Amino acid sequence: MHLNAEEQSMLSGEQGDLVREAMRFLVTLGQAYDADRMLDISYANVLIASSFWGKGVFTLDLIREAVDSGIRTRVPTTFNNWGTGGFGTDESIWERMDVPDRVRAQVIQEKEIARSLGIVPTETCAPYLLCGVGSVPSGAHISSVESSAIVYFNSVLGARTNRDCLAPFFAAITGKYPEFGYHLDENRRGVCLVDVRTPIRDTLSYGLLGLYTGKLVGGEVPVFTGITEPTTEDLMELSAALASSGSVTMFHIVGVTPEAPDLETAFGGHRPRETIAVTSDDLESVRNNVSDAEGMVDFVCLGCPHYSIYEVKRAAELLDGRRIQPEITLWICTAPQTAMFAEMAGYADTIREAGGTIMTGPGFCPLFSPGRPGPEYSFAHPEYSIGSFATDAAKQAYYARPNLRARHVFLGSAERCIEAAVVGEWR
Ligand code: F3S
Repeated sequence: MHLNAEEQSMLSGEQGDLVREAMRFLVTLGQAYDADRMLDISYANVLIASSFWGKGVFTLDLIREAVDSGIRTRVPTTFNNWGTGGFGTDESIWERMDVPDRVRAQVIQEKEIARSLGIVPTETCAPYLLCGVGSVPSGAHISSVESSAIVYFNSVLGARTNRDCLAPFFAAITGKYPEFGYHLDENRRGVCLVDVRTPIRDTLSYGLLGLYTGKLVGGEVPVFTGITEPTTEDLMELSAALASSGSVTMFHIVGVTPEAPDLETAFGGHRPRETIAVTSDDLESVRNNVSDAEGMVDFVCLGCPHYSIYEVKRAAELLDGRRIQPEITLWICTAPQTAMFAEMAGYADTIREAGGTIMTGPGFCPLFSPGRPGPEYSFAHPEYSIGSFATDAAKQAYYARPNLRARHVFLGSAERCIEAAVVGEWR
């Protein structure tokens, strides 16, 4: 693998131990994938989870020494949620959520590390929604964690990232990433044609389409036809679902996404390996697989990926003047910055008055929460269960049974979920 003089200097240790170890990680990664050279990246979206540190040479002491010697991230860098050692938590309701002291200390430490390295504390799985923070130009080489964000960055924004986990942190420290995978044109072209033969009219349908397609294409690049004018939220939902039932890293929608102005370009001049037709029956069968038909509801969770401000606004409108059942928990999950807008606009008051909670803060993700509000149990407890769970997110519904040990799962529109929270059951 060719390294230029600057990269050699990093690897030799001339620029400090953390930079050396970061470059060593990236070189090893690149060699494993036969990369010829390093790329300059323009953005990183990183995970800081102290459970990963302290292993091997990557100790907290190593990071602290680097910070003391003036090392900072070299490119604009954001802090994804679900750091915090795998526990998603909202600092403002730690008491209610019964978050253990050990986890609180971990959260504080991770925030301190991020701040000291110059990382912007976005704390969301949808940093691309935060104008000027997680938005990157088409064609930019970046390195990102979070499967739903990775698909969105590649497909909707046209930026280039692999499905990374620890690498973005090292990429942020060096400003480098090995050239392989989705950084190369040949790996970005479509492989499977997905002919959507039913109208996809709402965000939930995009989620069902994503679950259906992801399972069939696995890690290949699907090219959708038959979809017109998706919203930002529709594309977020599709991205998240494709990366849940499958390991999709990018997709194209002909006439919509930046690298698919037409079918031929989307496939890079090649023929599709296979064609998948999607009908309304297919989507209905996906819904029936992940969602129960009716029953009592304990817990309603909206915002996976984290809600945009327009989705928070819509939830507030649906809750305006209503009151959810006292025994039901309603979470609306969003980025801290979006929560601030919701406070300013009065949406947060409306949601609180109805009995709901806007969940945000350092590393909040409902799938990694240490428990539902007021829990006696956490994930570690053998009897832990989120109860009967309703969501508007295909990704949440897909994972709710194995991850949250939900007794029942209900998947439907935000309107239907809020109705269930108000009446107490899924009808
Ligand atoms: Fe975000 Fe957690 Fe869903 S990271 S995409 S809210 S599973």
